[in-house]
Amino acid sequence: MKSSNVLYWFLMKITIVGTGYVGLVTGTCFAEMGHDIVCLDIDESKIAMLKEGRIPIYEPGLEEMVRRNSEANRLSFSTNYEDAVEDAEAIFLCLPTPSDETGAANTDYVLSSARELAHFLDGYVVIVNKSTVPVGTANAVREAIIQENCDADFDVVSNPEFLKEGCAVQDCMKPDRVVIGCDCQKALKAMRRLYSPYMMNQERLQVMDIASAELTKYAANAMLATRISFMNEMANICEKVGADINAVRKGIGSDQRIGNSFLYAGVGYGGSCFPKDIRALQATAKNLHIDTPLLEAVESVNKRQKERLFSKIKSHFGRLDGKTFAIWGLSFKPDTDDMREAPSIVLIDALLEAGATIKVYDPVAMEVAREILSGVLFCENELDTAKDADAVILVTEWKQFRFVDLKKVLKVMRGTAFFDGRNQYVPEEMAGLGFYYEGIGKWIGPNALINALKAGSKVPAPVAS
Ligand SMILES: NC(=O)c1ccc[n+]([C@@H]2O[C@H](COP(=O)([O-])OP(=O)(O)OC[C@H]3O[C@@H](n4cnc5c(N)ncnc54)[C@H](O)[C@@H]3O)[C@@H](O)[C@H]2O)c1
Repeated sequence: MKSSNVLYWFLMKITIVGTGYVGLVTGTCFAEMGHDIVCLDIDESKIAMLKEGRIPIYEPGLEEMVRRNSEANRLSFSTNYEDAVEDAEAIFLCLPTPSDETGAANTDYVLSSARELAHFLDGYVVIVNKSTVPVGTANAVREAIIQENCDADFDVVSNPEFLKEGCAVQDCMKPDRVVIGCDCQKALKAMRRLYSPYMMNQERLQVMDIASAELTKYAANAMLATRISFMNEMANICEKVGADINAVRKGIGSDQRIGNSFLYAGVGYGGSCFPKDIRALQATAKNLHIDTPLLEAVESVNKRQKERLFSKIKSHFGRLDGKTFAIWGLSFKPDTDDMREAPSIVLIDALLEAGATIKVYDPVAMEVAREILSGVLFCENELDTAKDADAVILVTEWKQFRFVDLKKVLKVMRGTAFFDGRNQYVPEEMAGLGFYYEGIGKWIGPNALINALKAGSKVPAPVAS
């Protein structure tokens, strides 16, 4: 018999298994809506930290929300499966699905936690898979539970997560859609109840079969990655023909069929999702003997783009040994400390390999970076990083980098070069200040060219106009 101390008809007792980016944000946002949440993790130090009111990741707005809901006794943390699963009406699996050696998604974390929790199921419960998993995983979860506990009364639902790190709380509180893959009415009723606080002013639930829900998440990430690789390919053409990728972006983004989002050229996509999800989708297709030339191209364009800044720097300086480079931004994108598959890592490795000295700074990812990077100098701020550098390289477009006093930066540098991997600055203004400036997908322009030549820089010229 389930017991619940919740007051309203829609409020539920929920267990979140895996308290990482997705689990912690999902659990906290459900608590904010009034549900009764236990977040479970096998990482004891993470749970100890959360119990003390500190959060293990950087996510704007999250810490305050965790504190508020913990104090209201709607959000608690545990490392004990039995305690956490007891009385749960829904159990969310928010576990890692990293690439295995073939590129396929490793579902071991999901399946082993399903086996573990199976022992403690008592009464009807909906098992909700939020991890990004290949089609067929819901069935595998079902089988794993039955193998451990043939009396368990449960259904498995797919509910892929679409939040973006950096605005995860907002995405979770106001989702543009909630995809539910479900094959039974009882579980669907529970999911409608659970999400009802989010649907007060607009229905956002999209109900579909389980396979479609599982595939929807991969298709979404593949589409977004495709847009990025497409723009990076266009940027490389822009550089050669004397065009400006930002003008091209505006020109195509205003077409409603295309839209403005996710059309920025840069240093390639990284992070914990796109790279592994593209590889996993390719692996699924390969197992089914389906060719995926488009996905292969998306990935190979991205790999090349991650090396783009290095080739620009190399062709500007020639030899890199004895040179010092200041890296601004390390996380794979702003507003997160996540450095998984970050383009900064590829660049830093290449520069170190070439014998350069590397100074780095990131507004929030320094702690994470210290665990990942070796052989670099960790600096206090932008100016400290730029001191005695031959070039500054902007890799992650943290907002604060737009407001740095660039005159001061130039003064403390040894050289004058500025490589802007995210097109945050205006080439003419940078050249006017005395920088040799290169962005992505922009020819430097006639005024900037004159200024840069006056400053004695070597400037690449367009091959056609
Ligand atoms: N991070 C994102 O932006 C994002 C967005 C959408 C979907 N996803 C998907 O969500 C899933 C989780 O991603 P994440 O970024 O939150 O991962 P994460 O690595 O940040 O968190 C996973 C957590 O699971 C815990 N864990 C591992 N094994 C466990 C077990 N047996 N029992 C209990 N806890 C266990 C880990 O200690 C960790 O805290 C992945 O499939 C990912 O692809 C991630």
